Amino acid sequence: MFLTGAGVSAESGIPTFRGKEGYWTVRAREYHPQELATHEAFEAMPWEVWAWYLYRRAICRNAAPNDGHRALVRAGTAWPDRFALVTQNVDGLHRRAGNADHHVLAIHGDIQQMRCARECVADRWQIPDAVGELGKGEPVSPAVKALLVCPKCTGMARPHVLWFDESYDEERYHLDTVRRIANEAALVVVAGTSAQTNLPWQVVTLGARAGATIVDINLEDNPFGEIAQKSGGVIRGPAAAALTAIVDRLVG
Ligand code: OAD
Repeated sequence: MFLTGAGVSAESGIPTFRGKEGYWTVRAREYHPQELATHEAFEAMPWEVWAWYLYRRAICRNAAPNDGHRALVRAGTAWPDRFALVTQNVDGLHRRAGNADHHVLAIHGDIQQMRCARECVADRWQIPDAVGELGKGEPVSPAVKALLVCPKCTGMARPHVLWFDESYDEERYHLDTVRRIANEAALVVVAGTSAQTNLPWQVVTLGARAGATIVDINLEDNPFGEIAQKSGGVIRGPAAAALTAIVDRLVG
């Protein structure tokens, strides 16, 4: 089992979530991502929140997978029946690199998708290509607003991402599947995450309790490193090189 965070896509040029590039200005006020990635913010200023997501979606569309993503494709090919890739990244780079859809569990959603803001159905849709790309600070135009609607009920759509004031579930975010795999895993390799979110924390602690070897790859110390120190190992360096080395060693 591999668990990836924003650090794995940092080498593809996508800013990390808690890095200093994450801040965003709305009407002269600076917001931290944790304030914007909420249902509450979406209720209060939906188009400003959409503008932030469409800007980040453009960055993700223009980014390319790196050697870390490619290493994980090799791992998935080598172990088709005993490989899982749990990712907090909404950028879609694991799938674009070539990992099979059924191997990738995107526990925080997908920035290229939208769903009904009123949840009239659980379906998700690709954000239409005609939405185009938004630059930093660019408002959502009336023409684009008209495209960001639920195809079923024509009400407003929302990004298909998990917000801070929402909960994980199986239907949208693979909660039960991920817990089950963590309980069965022999090896959990964690890469590029600051250990601030709940389900990743469960993955690592469930895995450790069930006897898995835990490896933590990060530029910096973090709480997962403390667990990995006791049950596997810690690599302090860039994720792309470390994932390549681990997969090369395991797959040959
Ligand atoms: P963070 O931005 O919190 O943390 C990124 C981590 O990657 C930090 O620990 C960095 O030290 C590390 N890092 C940066 N560059 C790296 C590199 N080249 N190689 C290795 N490590 C590197 O991002 P996440 O932990 O992924 O969720 O954030 C988790 C979630 O917090 C996000 O998915 C987001 C937010 O809540 C939602 O929006 C639901």
